[in-house]
Amino acid sequence: MKLILLGAPGSGKGTVSDFLANKFKLKHISTGEICREEMAKNTAFGTEIKHYMDKGNLVPDELMIKVVNSTITGKDDYILDGFPRTIPQAEAIISQKIDAVINLDLPESAVIERLSGRRMCQNCNSGYHIKYIKPKKEGICDKCGSKLIQRPDDTPKVISERFKDYHTKTKPLVEYYQKKKLLHTIDASPPPETVRKAVTELVKELKRN
Ligand code: AP5
Repeated sequence: MKLILLGAPGSGKGTVSDFLANKFKLKHISTGEICREEMAKNTAFGTEIKHYMDKGNLVPDELMIKVVNSTITGKDDYILDGFPRTIPQAEAIISQKIDAVINLDLPESAVIERLSGRRMCQNCNSGYHIKYIKPKKEGICDKCGSKLIQRPDDTPKVISERFKDYHTKTKPLVEYYQKKKLLHTIDASPPPETVRKAVTELVKELKRN
């Protein structure tokens, strides 16, 4: 099964992808995560994209398409989290025969609260929220015991830039995938358990058909 997770910054793409990947044995491919890892390792790609990431702008299509194509080629069961983000990116993976696109719908006011309260494990990248998805011990990852940090792009200025790109470049994908009859919109505003239940039902339904 090949799935795409679509949604605004902070709408829960990473959280939902992680859950679905574990539940349905799919590979979770997060382009944001790939970019952050490359930057941390100071690779040539990481250095090239740093300027865009720091500002909260999208990395140019040709760079992202190359990375994603080399990651998904030959794979059958995956979730793409954060890709495609533009129409040219969607066109670049058209031969992949995606089964469904899950669009997480969340009002902008809620998204800002989620991003400002997000904490990430600096070692295993597990995601938490200071109010909604708390770790057992404050500031420490439940899974590996490492320190939780705030993402550098979760500051008000950078969040506002990320939203600009979302509205102009990514949102048109909703209509794009609607026309292809691949879009399934999920209300992402309820608590995590409710969202988990809704996406589980959806994926089970997709598997039956
Ligand atoms: P990326 O990492 O993909 O960032 P994003 O799209 O802005 O999305 P986020 O990771 O911020 O949020 P999310 O939707 O995953 O939400 P999460 O699950 O964490 O990309 C970063 C950058 O990389 C981009 O700005 C760009 O520069 C570059 N990039 C990446 N892909 C690219 C591409 N294809 N093309 C070009 N450039 C690219 O949840 C948010 C918070 O809410 C968490 O704290 C979580 O615990 C909490 N939460 C989740 N669900 C719930 C719930 N139901 N109730 C309450 N809280 C919840």
